[in-house]
Amino acid sequence: MNEILVLYYSRYGSTAEMAQYIARGIETVPGCQARLRTVPPVSAVCEATQDAIPAEGPPYATLDDLQECSGLALGSPTRFGNMAAPLKYFIDSTSSQWLSGALIGKPAGVFTSASSLHGGQETTLLSMMLPLLHHGVLLLGLPYSETDLLTTTSGGTPYGPSHTAGSDSKQPLSREEENLCTALGKRIAETCAALGNA
Ligand SMILES: Cc1cc2nc3c(=O)[nH]c(=O)nc-3n(C[C@H](O)[C@H](O)[C@H](O)COP(=O)(O)O)c2cc1C
Repeated sequence: MNEILVLYYSRYGSTAEMAQYIARGIETVPGCQARLRTVPPVSAVCEATQDAIPAEGPPYATLDDLQECSGLALGSPTRFGNMAAPLKYFIDSTSSQWLSGALIGKPAGVFTSASSLHGGQETTLLSMMLPLLHHGVLLLGLPYSETDLLTTTSGGTPYGPSHTAGSDSKQPLSREEENLCTALGKRIAETCAALGNA
């Protein structure tokens, strides 16, 4: 069984919803299963602690999830054109996985949600690609044979799925945005299956 890690941070729920569609795409591929994981918020107060298990939603990611996965999708809200600190904080704890090459050769993709159409969706996607490249993953985007890329009037990029959530962050995913999330999940899973990475 190929377990594909869908690892994300979400504060208002849009990135979490995208993760669900990515998981759906993964599970259309026989022999592939999604492992949804999130990360806790970070605090400027060093002593602040978080319950080990979140009150709702998927569990927090552990470093073992990176070791055990056959591939991964990484998602974050856009924060000033960059990934959010909680996801970066988790990534910055992965030195031992980098040293051991835990992610080398594993297919990976990225996704983001942002308030605005031109407020840094692509740059956030690129920001998540950088540490993944250091980890040696095989990066996957979305090809234009996914015709939703041509018709979308909101999110969706060849660098990975995106969502335009609006100024109140409440805009639902458009049909095209949903389809592109599913397409990325399916593409990562198909690549894992083809590589026999389980
Ligand atoms: C500190 C901060 C910075 C943000 N920066 C941007 C930005 O650069 N561009 C943008 O379009 N939206 C920005 N947003 C809005 C979020 O990206 C948007 O609300 C996103 O859809 C939230 O995703 P979530 O529902 O998964 O938490 C920012 C929000 C916060 C709190």
